[in-house]
Amino acid sequence: MARRALITGITGQDGSYLAEWLLSQGYEVWGLARGQANPRVSRVRKLLQDVQLVRGDLLDQGSLISAVEKVQPDEVYNLGAISFVPMSWEQAELTAEVTGMGVLRMLEAIRVCSGISSSRTAGSGQIRFYQASSSEMFGQVRETPQSETTPFHPRSPYGVAKAYGHFLTQNYRESYGMYAVSGILFNHESPRRGAEFVTRKVSLGVARIKLGLAAELRLGNMEARRDWGYAGDYVRAMHLMLQAGAPEDYVIGTGRTHSVRELVEAAFSAADLDWERYVVCDQSLHRPAEVDLLCADPKKARVQLGWEPTVSFEELVAMMVESDVKLLSSGGDPDQDSSWP
Ligand code: NAP
Ligand code: GDD
Repeated sequence: MARRALITGITGQDGSYLAEWLLSQGYEVWGLARGQANPRVSRVRKLLQDVQLVRGDLLDQGSLISAVEKVQPDEVYNLGAISFVPMSWEQAELTAEVTGMGVLRMLEAIRVCSGISSSRTAGSGQIRFYQASSSEMFGQVRETPQSETTPFHPRSPYGVAKAYGHFLTQNYRESYGMYAVSGILFNHESPRRGAEFVTRKVSLGVARIKLGLAAELRLGNMEARRDWGYAGDYVRAMHLMLQAGAPEDYVIGTGRTHSVRELVEAAFSAADLDWERYVVCDQSLHRPAEVDLLCADPKKARVQLGWEPTVSFEELVAMMVESDVKLLSSGGDPDQDSSWP
């Protein structure tokens, strides 16, 4: 029988790539979709026709229990979150509820549906759980590169909420013997990335300028450095983590870091444009507390899981610019169905 996976965050970037990867591996894939008339659900239905949807919300404990009861998954991937860091200052409580407490509700749904308690721990054949932890937890980094043993110092309400989910996942593993793991993933991008994140904002900005649809691109902190990889590579790592003999946490990244300035240079040059003519630094886009530098040490994943990234930073940037030029030249709207190649 096909293994069954339940993915929260199915309408997001990673949910789409993970669903495609699991379908290619012979899985029956279910996605948790929220809302009465969520416009992003139709995009999923169009792109991922073989994915089945179940209604639920990370804010609603009962809906998660019902979803797990209905789907009877072998593996649960908790990708759902408020994931845009600046929004976490504007709606800190909501971020805590969805990104932090949502992990508790998902773990509880699995625990209750599996009949696990303090006197009855998980046995073989249990549901395996993946939590989407984040390099934002490292925040003001204590060492570079960052590994599984680097202490956390989150710099945003989002990072704090992720740290809660991370420790809770570890705690359910230790308290109940659950197969629950966290992937500490560094920034990963693609042509399906939300337009609010800097890589996509830049690739869309370059495409608009190239096509004469805009005259400038406004950005915040150009000196921040990130370890940017390709989302399609990172979802393979999520799957590998749940196939390992024992549940453990892993850092996933490329081990290379670039500044926003370098990203901008690469993206404009991919379209034969001189970035200095178009980019405007806007102080209002700076964050209340910044994460200046992230760089992964992915050695454990390479050695224990055999995971390696396949797309370089330069290839990723060129892929995103090319995709957005194509999208906008054909009259596509980045917020609509057509935006997912
Ligand atoms: P994304 O594109 O922003 O997707 C977020 C998903 O969460 C969407 O499907 C959204 O669904 C869902 N969601 C929001 N509120 C929800 C709620 N109350 N109940 C259920 N689902 C809800 O994020 P992503 O880039 O794919 O990232 C996936 C996960 O990995 C996130 O947890 C993110 O924090 C984490 N992460 C991402 C990166 C990265 O670089 N991409 C790195 C480290 C960790 P709607 O369509 O209904 O809003
Ligand atoms: N979004 C955005 N917009 N970021 C900008 C801009 C701008 O105009 N100008 C400069 N930046 C800088 C930000 O200050 C930050 O230092 C960096 O670009 C990256 O910003 P984002 O692309 O928004 O990503 P993030 O690093 O804050 O968060 C992403 O990666 C995390 C993993 O480290 C998100 O995907 C999180 O959900 C994820 O956990």
